[in-house]
Amino acid sequence: MDTWIRGGLVVTAKGSFRAEIGIEAGRIAQVSSHQRGSAAQVLDAEGKWILPGIIDAHTHMELPLKKAVSADDFTSGTIAAACGGVTTIIDFSLHRQGASLEACLRDRRRAADGRVAVDYGLHAEIIDIGQGVLDEIPRLVQKGVTSFKLFLAYRRDGRMVDDGAMYAVLKRVGQAGGLVLVHAENGPLLEHLTDQLLKQGKIAPVYHARSRPNQVEEEAIRRAIAISHFARGNLYIVHLTTRQGLRAVQNAQGDGVAVWAETCPQYLLLDEGAYLGSEGRDFIATPPLRSREDQEALWRGLAQGTISVISTDHCPFTREQKRQGGESFAQVPNGLPGVETSLPLIFSQGVASDRLTANQLVAAMSTNPAKIFGLYPTKGCLEVGSDADVVIFDPEAEFVISAETLHTNTDFSPYQGFAGRGVVQLTMLRGLIIAQNGQFCGPSGYGKFLHRRKFEPDGCQLWPTG
Ligand code: URP
Ligand code: ZN
Ligand code: ZN
Repeated sequence: MDTWIRGGLVVTAKGSFRAEIGIEAGRIAQVSSHQRGSAAQVLDAEGKWILPGIIDAHTHMELPLKKAVSADDFTSGTIAAACGGVTTIIDFSLHRQGASLEACLRDRRRAADGRVAVDYGLHAEIIDIGQGVLDEIPRLVQKGVTSFKLFLAYRRDGRMVDDGAMYAVLKRVGQAGGLVLVHAENGPLLEHLTDQLLKQGKIAPVYHARSRPNQVEEEAIRRAIAISHFARGNLYIVHLTTRQGLRAVQNAQGDGVAVWAETCPQYLLLDEGAYLGSEGRDFIATPPLRSREDQEALWRGLAQGTISVISTDHCPFTREQKRQGGESFAQVPNGLPGVETSLPLIFSQGVASDRLTANQLVAAMSTNPAKIFGLYPTKGCLEVGSDADVVIFDPEAEFVISAETLHTNTDFSPYQGFAGRGVVQLTMLRGLIIAQNGQFCGPSGYGKFLHRRKFEPDGCQLWPTG
């Protein structure tokens, strides 16, 4: 063996058990009740947990948005990811009006290849279906890009698709063996509400939330579900935030519709009261932060398995970037950092607070995204033959979040001062230690592009999370 990890509690989506983990040539070679044979490196995990590496299926590195570009590039963002126990991210190729998906994919790979500290995949954004875009879908699936992203908002940025295009993409992607991710907010409705508020001079951050009430999300989710069902598509709702949207997903799943959902730490841990503080604009993200009632519904949705995935929608901006568009909430570049803090926060607020079991956390943050996005069993588990993407996690160690000690390229954290238990001690990617005790120690270009498998709704048996 190259490495033995000894003495830890192995925590997977299926259960928790004591085992020694042997690693050879970057893969898990043994999971055994005792160490067999020697190894060049022995890591002592006594009193610690051993988790499969976290998969963050929704990040936005170096994303141009409004007049800014998100502050983490592929290097800084994936170094932050590694320090937070994340060994795989799935980001997005950025579609340009009239451009071919394959050209946009090539551009995005050029930006990321050789510069990522963790493994990465790409979802392909589709913002218009001209120029043979639909015919490109099966070719992208063959190239390992098996998920496609549509926006039902951002019309004024030229990114929104209409219902006809949504239907066409859902149908073609479903036929090709892929999955469609939908940003579900009703764009024209929220634009109308925004315009009304701005006309009344209501420009403060709290009006960001008022311009996008729960119904804006609920309507878009219901529409996406109906159209996906009609198109025989496979639908994944990104960043679900509302109890009404959750109910729509739950009812559709109960009716046998192929729909999955994710939520993010910010919607579980933060609420719209943040917009009333003096730093309210720093918290602007879309959809907006919601009520405590919504938060509790989302935790229940996770525990019951209606929501399968926790991703972060990591899209950081500096405080200066958040202010550069002027006073109005409508000009603030939207997005929050999160990739580095998600595991400790979800552990402390979810597992240590009895809202989720440790196995449900692993399901939502590693195994389920691996299954849904065609990475399982290479990633998302600790089985013999899997990539040795491993986190050694100390469930007792205490943390206090401070932007100053984080690696993400922004100067604030929405979780500043959050305290809890549960610290990432070590992150290993394909057998190599890339972060230890909060410091990155890997080669920054060790991450590689992941060719993902087709989406298989029948083979995609998610571990029951409740
Ligand atoms: O505010 C957010 N979420 N920014 C990133 C882009 C998106 O819509 O996910
Ligand atoms: Zn979005
Ligand atoms: Zn996003």
